[in-house]
Amino acid sequence: MARKARSIFLCQSCGYRSGKWLGRCPDCGEWNSFVEEIETTSLHDAGDVPSANRAVCLGEVEDSQHTERLHTGFGELDRVLGGGLYPGSVILLAGEPGIGKSTLMLQVAAWLEAHGVPVLYVSGEESLGQLKSRASRLRPEAAKVVALAETRLPDVLAHLQALSPRVAIVDSIQSLYHPDLNGAPGNVAQLRECAGQLFRLAKEKAITLILIGHVTKEGLAAGPRLLEHLVDATLYFEGNVQQHRIIRAHKNRFGPSGELAVFEMGDGGLRQIADLSSLFLSPPAQFSPGTAVVCAYEGTRPLVVEVQALVNRTAYGPPQRTASGFDQRRLALILAILQRFAGLDFGLRDVFLKIAGGLTLRDPALDLGVAMAIFSSLSAQPLSHDEVFLGELGLGGEIRAVPFLEARLKDIEKRGFRQVYLPAGNFAALSQRKWGSLLLSPVEKVSQLIVSTEST
Ligand code: TYD
Ligand code: MG
Repeated sequence: MARKARSIFLCQSCGYRSGKWLGRCPDCGEWNSFVEEIETTSLHDAGDVPSANRAVCLGEVEDSQHTERLHTGFGELDRVLGGGLYPGSVILLAGEPGIGKSTLMLQVAAWLEAHGVPVLYVSGEESLGQLKSRASRLRPEAAKVVALAETRLPDVLAHLQALSPRVAIVDSIQSLYHPDLNGAPGNVAQLRECAGQLFRLAKEKAITLILIGHVTKEGLAAGPRLLEHLVDATLYFEGNVQQHRIIRAHKNRFGPSGELAVFEMGDGGLRQIADLSSLFLSPPAQFSPGTAVVCAYEGTRPLVVEVQALVNRTAYGPPQRTASGFDQRRLALILAILQRFAGLDFGLRDVFLKIAGGLTLRDPALDLGVAMAIFSSLSAQPLSHDEVFLGELGLGGEIRAVPFLEARLKDIEKRGFRQVYLPAGNFAALSQRKWGSLLLSPVEKVSQLIVSTEST
């Protein structure tokens, strides 16, 4: 039966349907809740069609041989994905304009093509000529990538049907539009419809689909976030464009989330950086008051990083608390704990905090290092560049145990640090007390460390 499409407006709050856009839902009273959607008449019959799927016992499910991962040519990207692209999965790669999404995907496409994996690169933003000139800056295999410059969704779908590539890259999802919807490309309705239809076709034909999405500083929520629930994995480019390009998996059905990889943009495209810790540490001679070394656990591996604090007398107005790469509220909490339990006064002081290299870290194990960096800046006493601080701060000023301690210690030891301050609870539970020449100093309360550092 021919599918005849018309667009309707649906209240996102209660599901009320309307033929035209309404500012307020007459049913539930919600304002601005109508979104245009495509209604396909054949959908009404969907209930009568027997499903090809059948309910089975999980033990009977065949282990699919097709779960062999597709490598991308970047070991680091493979790791973020959980061992490569999972065949048939749908991945969202999002980031600010200019950060390197198209470059990375063209490099991946070139590598796949060179390894016998048919790829279709759908470019809705750049002409084939632009794509070609980009490819000429990359490795020669990039010239073999099959590309299509198209923004009309039904045409994109038709090409996918006809070519049946194993991997399809859509650059970008915001540039596509469905002619049955009135809205401009990139609006909520278009985004959902285009992503939804691509998703269904990809699953039906077992095409690994990579959707590129733009994120602007303001538009996080309205953009690709909308598609997060639909896709199997979301990778975000973090950091700013000047520094290293950091890719992190926010959601991953086929691997760990939180995993990150770092790239550098050069003349021949993006280059991966495998040894990260050296990136985020400064040479001993540049180690100044306010700097502390911490060990975060990101995804499946430890990462030794510097945090820097700057505490100044407030010149005017209310004291400022500014954190970059670290949660602002957590910073406020650490200051309150230091004030109450270590007797430090931040009443008339501005506090700035920064994680090295444009990284954003959420690991609570950073708390102790952040507290020490702040204390070091306040007291103008440098910490030692060969000490690492590990521990979460509790509201009573106590240092709480952190997960993955042994993996962190192993990495810290490997990098030649001399001493680690760690939660007493973790220390008591350690399977081995000796980690090379690493000196382990258990700490119970933050006040302990601040007093002892002050006296040295
Ligand atoms: P691009 O991949 O176009 O970003 P996005 O798709 O996320 O918007 O990256 C664009 C930047 O990368 C642009 O400023 C040019 C630069 N670039 C290089 O420095 N070297 C290269 O080899 C390539 C292809 C791009
Ligand atoms: Mg691009």
